[in-house]
This record gives sequence, structure tokens and C-alpha cells, in this order.
Amino acid sequence: MTINIYIPRDAGALALGAEKVAAAAREEIEKRGLDAKIVRNGSRGMFWLEPMVEVQTAEGRVAYGPVKPGDVAGLFDAGLIEGGAHDLALGRPEKIPFLAKQTRLTFARCGIIDPVSLEDYEAHGGLRGLRNALEKTPLGIVEEVTESGLRGRGGAGFPTGIKWKTVHDTDDPQKYIVCNADEGDSGTFSDRMIMEGDPFVLIEGMVIAGIATGATRGYVYLRSEYPNVHRILNEAIDAARAAGMLGKSVLGSEYAFDMEVRVGAGAYVCGEETALLDSLEGKRGQVRAKPPLPAHEGLFGKPTVINNVISLASVPIILDKGGAYYRDFGMGRSRGTIPIQITGNVKHGGLFEAAFGMTLGELVDDIGGGTATGRPVRAVQVGGPLGAYWPRDLFDTPFDYEAFAAKDGLIGHAGIVVFDDTVDLLKQARFAMEFCAVESCGKCTPCRIGSTRGVEVLDRLKQGIAPEEQIETVTDLCNTMKFGSLCALGGFTPYPVMSALTHFPEDFRPAPVREAAE
Ligand SMILES: Cc1cc2nc3c(=O)[nH]c(=O)nc-3n(C[C@H](O)[C@H](O)[C@H](O)COP(=O)(O)O)c2cc1C
Ligand code: SF4
Repeated sequence: MTINIYIPRDAGALALGAEKVAAAAREEIEKRGLDAKIVRNGSRGMFWLEPMVEVQTAEGRVAYGPVKPGDVAGLFDAGLIEGGAHDLALGRPEKIPFLAKQTRLTFARCGIIDPVSLEDYEAHGGLRGLRNALEKTPLGIVEEVTESGLRGRGGAGFPTGIKWKTVHDTDDPQKYIVCNADEGDSGTFSDRMIMEGDPFVLIEGMVIAGIATGATRGYVYLRSEYPNVHRILNEAIDAARAAGMLGKSVLGSEYAFDMEVRVGAGAYVCGEETALLDSLEGKRGQVRAKPPLPAHEGLFGKPTVINNVISLASVPIILDKGGAYYRDFGMGRSRGTIPIQITGNVKHGGLFEAAFGMTLGELVDDIGGGTATGRPVRAVQVGGPLGAYWPRDLFDTPFDYEAFAAKDGLIGHAGIVVFDDTVDLLKQARFAMEFCAVESCGKCTPCRIGSTRGVEVLDRLKQGIAPEEQIETVTDLCNTMKFGSLCALGGFTPYPVMSALTHFPEDFRPAPVREAAE
């Protein structure tokens, strides 16, 4: 029997040399005349172990990592294809604590299957959600999604079922499904990982969304920095079309749905849904005033569902196992699971899918294992460049939309960036203002002008010029930006700035005051 050797083609693994590892493995297979085949899978999301090579044995898969090209011949000498002992052997991947502690619903197949094989996808439970959806009325599908409690994973946490119902109820022969794959938040990669590791789950989610709302056409708006996703997603879309999962009659049904990928041009603000629509229409990406909501007048003025990749990729499991099953995970109004991305200065960086409710401390210290430098964790930023900085004494906060909001923070796209005790929070606050100034679309004054003034004020603070006056000015400026900006770019930049100022005040005072406080 041909033995499968899995070597990821995920961008994270490729950046760490997976292509050379695959080439070396191919050479060894040929040289030794082995009956083995290399499958280019996605990543399991444990990036400190990448490139992680897995081999299919009679007892299940056995993993080795991190593998360098120079390790490959030695691994074959040690009997890799029978799961032989080696210094890099990790045992069964599912037993590695980082994976064993997860609840993988959305990412259940990621790193396991061949991402572009529809056959493999189906063999691992794919298409069951779509088949169940085809048994229901469009409204029945919307109700199932509403019942699941799924909220948008792009950042705002808006209930997906309500958004779909609005489009469902809007009468128009042309409606669209737009997938937001701009993934601009710092320290986030869950969209990329699922699109590279299990693209059919996104396609299936978009088809279900189309049937539920009456949309026949879908677009994936992909960030330009993801060329690897572009290739894999297009390969998967072609395969889905060839198999009748996309086209005039989805799986032989009365429903038509087709989709394509459009690549953005690299502006953070184009992740904002209305700027995204402008960009998709070929215009300069600028935020639109609401109303009208995109659900009423979206792409080309037509009713449009805009959802994040993870929101859409979570739909197949909901239609497969039922809204109540998904809803059983989580806490409060945060239902289901969320793929948390642990990055920055952290020992075990990667993707950790879990039910809502774990504390920040558990995620950073236990799962992430503390900093990579071995120094104490001083702060984490959660939710991308517009997210708050958290000090250790708030690490008992559970990962939950409302619990985070109650402490002036946000979950956003669930990226956690870890910093050790060498971080300078005044520098980070300045960076937040500078980022806003660079990325502002320029439509409204609090954001366009406020962010530039914010950089200047923080620079004066850095120089020790009348610190208390500068702190008062920056606080006032943050209030103006928070309440006067048209979108969350200007409106949320105050979160990193004010959290840094509130929780790490010593970094904002001249050195003698700071030393006295320590
Ligand atoms: C400045 C800015 C950038 C954003 N970037 C993204 C992004 O990269 N990806 C994303 O899914 N949502 C992003 N959003 C949120 C979207 O506007 C929108 O809420 C989301 O696509 C809706 O999908 P969801 O309900 O499934 O989360 C951004 C919002 C703002 C204000
Ligand atoms: S807040 Fe900034 S990015 Fe948003 S609309 Fe105003 S100027 Fe544009």
C-alpha cells in the first residue's frame, strides 16, 4: 500500500522551508525506491513545529518537526515511513497538548486533508452541511444559523443570522455574497490558514449563504499579500465547479451559485465592509456612510451579505450538526468556537480553536507557554491594531465579546500579540496613532487630522515637554476620535492608545517619575 507523507504547503510552513523539505523527501523516496507519496496538506497551526512532517502508519499518523532539509535523509534512515524513532519525532499529532486541548469544529480538517481534493474533503465530512441545507427552505437555513448564535468573526461580532435574514427578506433578483478575506489585523492568520488548509469549507459556506439568501454570485475579496491562498483557492473553486458544487445547478438542485476571487491592493481600510465594496467595484476604497446597509444596497447597489472567512467557514458544521450543537459551546452571548491566533513574542505561537470562555492568562501562559525570549510577559494586544493593550492583572478576563467590552477591549479577529517586559507602551501608543494616520481613508476629520495631531502630541510627551498637558490633550483627542469618526479605524484607534495610558501610566511619564513608580 502506498504510504502518505504529509508536508504542508501552508505559507507559514513554506516560509520555514517546507518546499525544500518536500524536494528532499521526494529525492529520498526515489533513491530508495519506496512506495510512498507526498501529500501537500495545510498546517495544523503549531508554527514552532513547522515544517511538521507527518506519516500515515497502521496506528494513525506520526509527526516529526521542525524538520530542516538536512534532516530528511536521516529521518528516512530512521524508518520515517514506518513512524520510526528519531530526535524530531513528536508522536501522534492529536496528542500534542496544544492540539489535544482544542475544540476543532471549523478547523476540524485543516492540516489533515489534501486541501484541493474534493474527494478527501467529502471523506472527512465535507458537503454534509450543504446536503442538509438543500433539504431545507432558505428561511429554514437562516433559522439554523440564527439558532447557532454565530456572530461575525471579522471583528464587529454582529449576529450572522440577522444579517442573512435582512438579505433574505429583501426582494431583488440579483444579490451577492461577499467574503471578506482582507485579514488586515496584526497577528492574525486564521483566514489564511483555513483557505490554504481547507478551502472547500469556505466555498461550501458561501454556497449555503447564497441558497439561504437568494444570492447567485459570490466574491472573495482577498488581500494581495496572500498569493499562496490565491493559487489554492482558485484550484479548489475549479474543482468545485467541475464536480457540480458550483454552477447553474448546485449538486443537481434548483439553486445556482458561482464565485470568484478578487485581489485587493493592500489598504487596511479596504477590510472595512463598505470600503471593500468600493474597492471591489473598481473604485478607490473609501468608507461609505450607513444607511443604506450593504444588506439593502451593497455591491453594485444590490443586497449583499458581507461576512468574514471564518464566519462563512463555520456555517457547514452548523448545517451538518445543527444550530443547537454549535450553540452548546461557549459562554453568555458568545457561542461556538473561535480560532485564537497567538503570536508575537511567544514560545508556542499558533492557531488555537476553542469554545469562548478561556481566560487571557490561560491562553498566553499555559497554551502559549509565555514569551519566546523567556522574559516576563508584560502586555498583550488583542484584536489587531485597533485592539487594547492588556496588563497581567486583567489576565483573568474570559475570551468573550461582552467580557472584553466591559473592560474597554475587543476581541476583533481574535489575534493575541504578546510582548515581554522590554516593551515601551508609549511607543506602541504612538504606533497606533501613526498607523491610523497612514491608513486613514481621509473621509472624516477626527480620523484624518486627529491621528496626525495624536502622533505630534505623543512625540512631545516622549521629549518630556509638559507631560500632564500632553496627556490631557491626547485623552481629549481620543474622545473626539472615538465619538466623531465615521468608521472603526478612527473610532477604535483610541483603544490601544487609552489602554496603554491607563494600564501602563509609568511609560508616559518622564524617567524620574517612572523610576519612582517602579
Ligand atoms: C478599518 C477596518 C478594517 C477591517 N478589516 C477587516 C478584515 O480585514 N476582515 C474582516 O473580515 N473584517 C474586517 N473589518 C470588519 C468589516 O467591516 C465587517 O464588519 C465584516 O467583514 C463583517 O463580517 P462578519 O460579520 O462575518 O464579521 C474591518 C473593519 C474596519 C473598520
Ligand atoms: S474613521 Fe478614518 S478610515 Fe474611517 S471613514 Fe473616517 S477617515 Fe475614513
